[in-house]
Amino acid sequence: MDKSNFRFDDKVVLVTGSAGGIGKTIATAFGKAGARVAICDINRVAAETCLKELRESGIEAMYFAVDLSKKGEPQRMVSDVVDAFGKLDILINNARAGERLELLEDTEENWDITMSVGLKASYFATQKAIPIMDSQGGGNIVNISSVSAHVISSGSAAYHVSKSGLSQLTKYLAVHAGPKNIRVNSVSPGLIVQDEHRNRFKSSDNVNYRTRAEQCHPLKRVGYSQEVADAALFLCSKAASFITGQEIIVDGGLIIQDQWALLSNKTHTTDNI
Ligand SMILES: NC(=O)c1ccc[n+]([C@@H]2O[C@H](COP(=O)([O-])OP(=O)(O)OC[C@H]3O[C@@H](n4cnc5c(N)ncnc54)[C@H](O)[C@@H]3O)[C@@H](O)[C@H]2O)c1
Repeated sequence: MDKSNFRFDDKVVLVTGSAGGIGKTIATAFGKAGARVAICDINRVAAETCLKELRESGIEAMYFAVDLSKKGEPQRMVSDVVDAFGKLDILINNARAGERLELLEDTEENWDITMSVGLKASYFATQKAIPIMDSQGGGNIVNISSVSAHVISSGSAAYHVSKSGLSQLTKYLAVHAGPKNIRVNSVSPGLIVQDEHRNRFKSSDNVNYRTRAEQCHPLKRVGYSQEVADAALFLCSKAASFITGQEIIVDGGLIIQDQWALLSNKTHTTDNI
């Protein structure tokens, strides 16, 4: 394996929703691999903390305040990042908004914000980024989707629809941007414990939930933000140079399980092998 394939020196990476959660881990991972990173988020306070941490670990980073639910903002965000850094090589559409409201409690406001931040903004940020990447000879785009694009869990219909829309958008953009040497892929996380929630997840008063969460995965554990970041890094790396329009599901096997076995209370453990 050529380790230089996973270096991003001189690359500029824009990550939306990167003030915290998975986005922050993705931004940090690219930064550690040599990239300059643009932290784009609505949450100024969290973004300032994130920026401080990144800079303390030697990563060159800037914060760009943006409300991706507003018309024109995704495009302005991309322009601002290019004005500040002089280029844009990688765009990670990661931000999400909205609540997980059940069918009968859901509202039009919740539908609008979920779709605008999670789906529409990804499209218009990408639309703005493509000519810029084209003028530089190519680039990479990764949409952070979800297993909710494939299976139905409790909560927001709009979330499920926005994520399945991202899957089709990924393929659409891959076809249209491919001739410009721009690859477009997606990463679909399953049950991920964000870095900032690790202690809570591992706390002693959380044993029941933790055990159930771990048991419903074939790998018998939940996932971590770094594992989503690693998939995004791979897709943008030279090691993935012939991969476009694809999705990597990072879910420890959660959605491929034998549902009938679960129904009959049989779980796949090493004892069954
Ligand atoms: N955490 C999980 O288990 C999980 C599972 C599947 C998919 N995902 C996906 O991974 C991505 C990151 O998830 P997360 O759990 O870190 O989410 P999160 O809610 O912790 O973070 C989302 C970020 O988006 C920002 N944001 C919200 N509204 C915005 C707006 N209008 N404009 C700009 N920024 C805005 C928030 O400030 C926040 O920093 C999302 O796309 C999510 O759907 C997460």
